[in-house]
Amino acid sequence: MSEDVIPGSPVDWELEGPGALRDGTPIWVRPVRPTDRNDLMDFVAHVSTDSLEMRYFAATRPETAVEEMLRGSPAEDRVSLLAVGGVQGGPRVLGQGEYVLDRADPSTAEAAFLVRDAWHGYGIGTVLLHWLAQIARGRGVHRFVVYVQPTNRPMLDVVRNSGFPVVESEEGYVLRIDLSIVEPPSALPFAESGHATAG
Ligand SMILES: CC(C)(COP(=O)(O)OP(=O)(O)OC[C@H]1O[C@@H](n2cnc3c(N)ncnc32)[C@H](O)[C@@H]1OP(=O)(O)O)[C@@H](O)C(=O)NCCC(=O)NCCS
Repeated sequence: MSEDVIPGSPVDWELEGPGALRDGTPIWVRPVRPTDRNDLMDFVAHVSTDSLEMRYFAATRPETAVEEMLRGSPAEDRVSLLAVGGVQGGPRVLGQGEYVLDRADPSTAEAAFLVRDAWHGYGIGTVLLHWLAQIARGRGVHRFVVYVQPTNRPMLDVVRNSGFPVVESEEGYVLRIDLSIVEPPSALPFAESGHATAG
């Protein structure tokens, strides 16, 4: 989706590039930009209230979710990526994933994901996880922590099938999953991204 690259602006290949979904559908992965507000509003309009609650662990208004995604981007302690797909009418945000460094331990970061409901199961969450892990690894992060509701089977599948060693623990009614991202997995769930497989 090279049309999503701002003409005249250099592509930051650490953070941006082409990927492919499980069925081969091409996507473009790039950082969230301050100018993405309208595209993000369209994105969250295609996300159910249940999905927003799974992501933010509380009933969350779409506008609040968009503010959250735009917050502090770009920033040193936070990387927020979009998966953009070319569909009729032009590029559309299909998913968003981010990691935020733990201030007390910058070798650890919390990661979280949100994908358009109609695009669940295509591999977008998996692509974003591996993409974020590659960036984080290059910046000295060793561990991702993902908080998941125990009933959230799709997210549990993403992390358990990621190829990263995982340790699971209960924190109240939430599952905490620690992923060791020091090494890229020897086998990826699918050949989802030239960027992710490069490392
Ligand atoms: C969790 C979420 C990010 C996963 O994104 P995704 O793009 O659908 O993930 P993938 O396609 O890479 O993988 C989904 C996995 O769940 C499985 N799955 C099971 N039921 C599914 C369903 N109803 N829909 C989609 N996937 C389902 C898929 O088969 C796949 O498993 P696999 O890796 O063994 O093949 C997405 O479902 C979502 O946005 N949920 C709401 C927000 C949320 O829960 N965020 C997590 C909190 S951090």
